[in-house]
Amino acid sequence: MSTPDPSAGLAERAAALRQQLHHHAHRYYVLDDPEIPDAEYDRLFRDLQSLEDAYPGLRTADSPTQRVIGQVLDGFAPVRHAVPMLSIRTETDTTAGGAEAFDARVRRELALAEADPPVEYAAELKFDGLAINLRYEDGVLKQAATRGDGETGEDVTQNIRTVNQIPLRLIGVAPAVLEVRGEVYMRRDDFDALNERQRTLIAAGAKNEKTFVNPRNAAAGAVRQLDPAIAARRPLSFFAYGLGEVLGWAIPESHSRLMDALAAFGLPVCADRAVVLGAAGLTDFHRRMGDKRDALPFDIDGVVYKVNSRALQERLGFVTREPRWAVAHKYPAQEQMTRVLDIDIQVGRTGKLTPVAKLEPVFVGGTTVSNATLHNEDETRRKDVRVGDTVIVRRAGDVIPEVVGIVADRRPADVGEPFDLYRRLGGRCPVCASPIEREEGEADWRCTGGLTCPAQRKQALLHFASRRAMDIEGLGDKLVDQLVDAGIVRAVPDLYRLGFANLATLERMGEKSAQNLLAGIEKSKATTLGRFLYSLGIRQVGEATAKDLARHFGQIDRLMDARVEELLEVKDVGPIVADSIRHFFDQPHHREVVEQLRAAGVHWPDHEGTASDAPRPLLGKTLVLTGTLPTLGREEAKELIEAAGGKVSGSVSKKTHYVIAGEEAGSKLDKARELGVPVLDEAGLRGLLEP
Ligand code: IVH
Repeated sequence: MSTPDPSAGLAERAAALRQQLHHHAHRYYVLDDPEIPDAEYDRLFRDLQSLEDAYPGLRTADSPTQRVIGQVLDGFAPVRHAVPMLSIRTETDTTAGGAEAFDARVRRELALAEADPPVEYAAELKFDGLAINLRYEDGVLKQAATRGDGETGEDVTQNIRTVNQIPLRLIGVAPAVLEVRGEVYMRRDDFDALNERQRTLIAAGAKNEKTFVNPRNAAAGAVRQLDPAIAARRPLSFFAYGLGEVLGWAIPESHSRLMDALAAFGLPVCADRAVVLGAAGLTDFHRRMGDKRDALPFDIDGVVYKVNSRALQERLGFVTREPRWAVAHKYPAQEQMTRVLDIDIQVGRTGKLTPVAKLEPVFVGGTTVSNATLHNEDETRRKDVRVGDTVIVRRAGDVIPEVVGIVADRRPADVGEPFDLYRRLGGRCPVCASPIEREEGEADWRCTGGLTCPAQRKQALLHFASRRAMDIEGLGDKLVDQLVDAGIVRAVPDLYRLGFANLATLERMGEKSAQNLLAGIEKSKATTLGRFLYSLGIRQVGEATAKDLARHFGQIDRLMDARVEELLEVKDVGPIVADSIRHFFDQPHHREVVEQLRAAGVHWPDHEGTASDAPRPLLGKTLVLTGTLPTLGREEAKELIEAAGGKVSGSVSKKTHYVIAGEEAGSKLDKARELGVPVLDEAGLRGLLEP
C-alpha cells in the first residue's frame, strides 16, 4: 500500500495561482491597467508563497515568487549569442534631411523608380537604455544577456528577473525558442525617486552609495549589479523591439505585426510607434515625437525607422554589421560634457543667490549653452562641482540648462576649492554689496538689500511685466537692464511715467519700438486683481495663490489690511504664506507702490470673481485639462474655468470632477477612464460654463 502524496491536487492549485498572478502582473506592470486591487494581488501572492514553503517541490522557475533569487556574484558568465546582436547605423543629421537620406538609400537599394509607390516603414522610438537579449524556451524566461561586443555578452539573468515588466512566462502558446531583443531603461520618475533615496542614504552616512547622473547610467549600473537584491531595488523597465534566435514559430511578415505579436505574448511594446509611408511619413513621425520628447516618461535620443516588410528587409540585407533596412535618426543631444571655467553668483528677484557655472560653450538641446544653473550651495557641494571640473550639462526642452554632475576621473590636479558661497562673496551681494544671509533650514542665501539692490529691481521689473503678470509686451531683459542702468526706472511705478523723451535716450531704441513699448504699457493698465497681486512679487505668492486671494478678498484694500488669521481663512494659505503677505504689506514702501500704480491708472474689475457678482457655476469643482482643444488655448480655458469659480488641477484623482480632453490627450485621459471621472470635450466645457 503506497502512502498518499500530500501534494496531490496542490500542484494544480499552485499552477492556478501562478497563472492568475502572471495575468494580473501583466495587467498591472505592462498594460498599466489592473483588474484587481493591490491587496488582492498580495493575497494571491502570499497564498502561493505559503504553498511553496510547505511543498518546495511545487516551486518552479517561472513562479512570480522567484523574481529575486540567487547569490551575490563574483562576475558575470559570458554568453555567446546564437544570432549576433547588431547595431544600426545612426543618422546624425537631426533635420528632416536625415530621414530623406535614409528613404533615398532604401529606394536606391531596392531599385525603385520615382514613379513607384512609397516604401512602408515601421517607425518607433530610440530608447536610451541598454540592449538586452531575453531567451524564452517553451515560454519560460531562461536567460538574459547584455549585448557585449555583439557576439558575446554577459549573463545578467538574475538581475533581469527582478524587472517586473519582463514576463517570466509568455502568454499563450509560445515557440520552442524565442529570443526577444529590446531595451532595458529607467523611467524618469523612478530615476528621481532612486536618486532621492540615494541622497537619504548618503546623508545618513552610508558609504559606497552614490547618486546617478542620468537614467541611462542608473539602468546600466542596475543591470550589471552583482547583488540581485540591490538590483531589485533599482526600478527598471523594458521595451521589446526585435528578435534573436527563433525556433518553432512562423515570424510575422512585417515588423509592425511582429511588435503586435510580442505584445500579445505579454511583452512590453511601446505604444508610440507607427506605420508610415515614405520620407514624408518618416519626417512627420520624427517631428511629432520630437514635440512629445520632453513629455515622455522616459528618455529617448532619437527615433528608429525600419523597413516594415520582412521580405524587403531580407532583400536589403546587411552592410558589415549593420542592416540596410534600419536607421536611427537622432534628436539633438540633451546632455553634453564640457568644462567649468568659473562659478558666478546671480541675484534673483527675491534676492536669492544662485550659483551658475560658466562653461566652455557647448551645443546641447539644440542651442549653444555657456551658463548652467547649479541651483544652490548645497547642490553644488553635493555634486562637488569646482572650477576646472569636466561636467555633464543637461538642457531638456525649455528648461534652463543645469549641471547634472562632474566627470570625476577628468578632475585636473589644479582644480579649484570646494564651493563656499559666503567665502566666495566675502559675505556681500555681488551687485549691491548688502550683507547676505541664509536662514536656518533654508537652502538659499539671499541679498538683504531688497529693492535697493539693482539686480533685484531688474528681476522684479521683469516679473512684473511677465506674461502671466501684467503682460507688458516688449519689455524684455535687455531693455530692463538699460532702463535700470540709466536710472530711468527705479521701481515698477516708473514704468507708467515713461515717455518718448526718456526712451529716445536709450541706445538701439527706434521710434517704432518706443511706440510699441508705450502701447504695451498702456494696455497693461487694464488687468485683473489676481494678476496684479501676482505681479507684485510677494514671496510665497504664486499665480494660483494670487487668484485665490483676489477671489477671497475682492478688494485690494481689504487684503492689505487683513490680519494673519483672516489670511489663513483663504484656501491653501498656511502660516508661512500668510506671514509673508502680512510682512509685505507692513512695509510702507510696498503700499506706496500699490497707491502709485493705482494713481497711474492700473485698474481691475471690482469684486472680481467674488460670489457677490458673476454667477459661478463651477464653484467647488476641480477640472483637469488634457490635450489640445479645438479653439481654446490652455490659458484661456483655465481663465474661463477659474472665472466660473472652478479650479484647474494638473493631475487626475478621485476628487477630479471633470476631465476636459482635446486632441492628443494623454495618460490623464486614461486615468480619468480608469477612475470613472466624466470626460468632456470643449463643447462640454462651454456647457458647464453656462450659468
Ligand atoms: S533595433 C538590427 N530599435 O539603439 C537592429 N534599437 O544600434 C537592432 N535601440 O543599442 C536594433 N531603441 O539597443 C532598435 N526601437 C529600437 C531601439 C533600438 C533603442 C538601441 C539598441 C542599440 C542601438 C541601435
